[in-house]
Amino acid sequence: MKATPINFEVVNQKIKESKLASVGKASIREIKKLVDTIESTTGEKFIRMEMGIPGLAPVDIGIQAEIAALKKGVAAIYPDIFGIPPLKKEISRFVKLFLDIDVDPDGCIPTVGSMQGGFASFMTINRMNKKKDTTLFIDPGFPVHKQQHRVLGIKHESFDVYNYRGEKLRDKLESYLKKGNISGILYSNPNNPSWICFTDTELQIIGEMANKYDVIIMEDLAYFGMDFRKDYSKPGEPPYQPSVSKYTDNYILFISSSKVFSYAGQRIGMMVISDSLYSRRSEDLTRYYSSDQFGHAMIFGSLYSLSSGTAHSPQYGLTAILQAVNNGEYNFREVVREYEKKAKIMKKLFLDNGFYIVYDKDEDNLIADGFYFTFAYPGMSGEKLLAELIYYGISAITLSITGSERHEGIRACVSLVQRSQFPDLEKRLKQFQKDHPVNA
Ligand SMILES: Cc1ncc(COP(=O)(O)O)c(C=O)c1O
Repeated sequence: MKATPINFEVVNQKIKESKLASVGKASIREIKKLVDTIESTTGEKFIRMEMGIPGLAPVDIGIQAEIAALKKGVAAIYPDIFGIPPLKKEISRFVKLFLDIDVDPDGCIPTVGSMQGGFASFMTINRMNKKKDTTLFIDPGFPVHKQQHRVLGIKHESFDVYNYRGEKLRDKLESYLKKGNISGILYSNPNNPSWICFTDTELQIIGEMANKYDVIIMEDLAYFGMDFRKDYSKPGEPPYQPSVSKYTDNYILFISSSKVFSYAGQRIGMMVISDSLYSRRSEDLTRYYSSDQFGHAMIFGSLYSLSSGTAHSPQYGLTAILQAVNNGEYNFREVVREYEKKAKIMKKLFLDNGFYIVYDKDEDNLIADGFYFTFAYPGMSGEKLLAELIYYGISAITLSITGSERHEGIRACVSLVQRSQFPDLEKRLKQFQKDHPVNA
């Protein structure tokens, strides 16, 4: 029996019982379940880095506003599908103050988390033009978006951006777009899982391609303002959160409140449709919708079908949070910077013990410290590494399930790891390195 930080036999036994064909290929939820059972059997706490759950308390301003709204009786009333007017106004103000873009409140729509905004957009965008029936993912990405495509029966193509940073992105995008079948492009920025952030050069290229080939860019800003190398948190003051919306009018933005306001449980996000896309008419939409106007089809076709709007009280909660943020009374960055601080320490522990960062740069700059980072160990595939780390009380996910071609890589999420666990993490990584000597 090997002497590993977590009892070797128990781990073997639990892996066997889990019936997983391969731990290394397991999904986020499968890893979570396996680690839950090992933890409860051994009583040992893992360094849990598999799930991207906010590790901070929800913004209290929101909770208080929700309680007040519930007491007033909003629970009894159907909210309008397009959202309550004060929230639409605050979303419009928010994008003006933090992205420096003008969007009419009509195109600022609350959704049941960004996930629903994505689902509704994939649905609507792929029905605008008969010939354009495929989404292009700039990977690595969030696996659920591909799942959404599978359940919708919508085609998708993808590539790993790792080798196509900077100017190289142009030709790569063009190689897909010139075929004429791409309706929209999706990426997250900062990126889940790699935490790369597109530079302005890259966003400009994406915007130019959107204009040239008439495709809709879906920019997923789930980690809004969380590239902590710059301060994007001062209302109405540069620098602004970098965004493709500076370079094209063909955009929809998804701004999640889950991470930046630690509001994941209330399932409320923002979908922001540019004025020009909102009012655009497309005959092909009438195959599915009562109107040929994009904004109308999105709201009264897609969103109506999905959930008939977003729950009432979270809309009041988000309104109050945005009001405070827009008025400069609540600085979201100061709160979520805890992720940056933890990432800095954790990355160093990995680097000091023989690991390396996989997605390590944005063009010439070192990647930011934030919610996620990616790592690998010399000579090991991500699959093997993840399976091995379980015996060391460390859980995460492999990059292979995110569309990454860096098959050696693992994604680590810092949010749930407590600072009090850092000594354990260090001890376990040291032992891992000792047990897995790298041949010079
Ligand atoms: C890239 C990305 N998009 C979307 C989401 C989901 O956001 P929401 O909770 O607003 O549905 C996440 C959550 O982890 C994410 O990482």
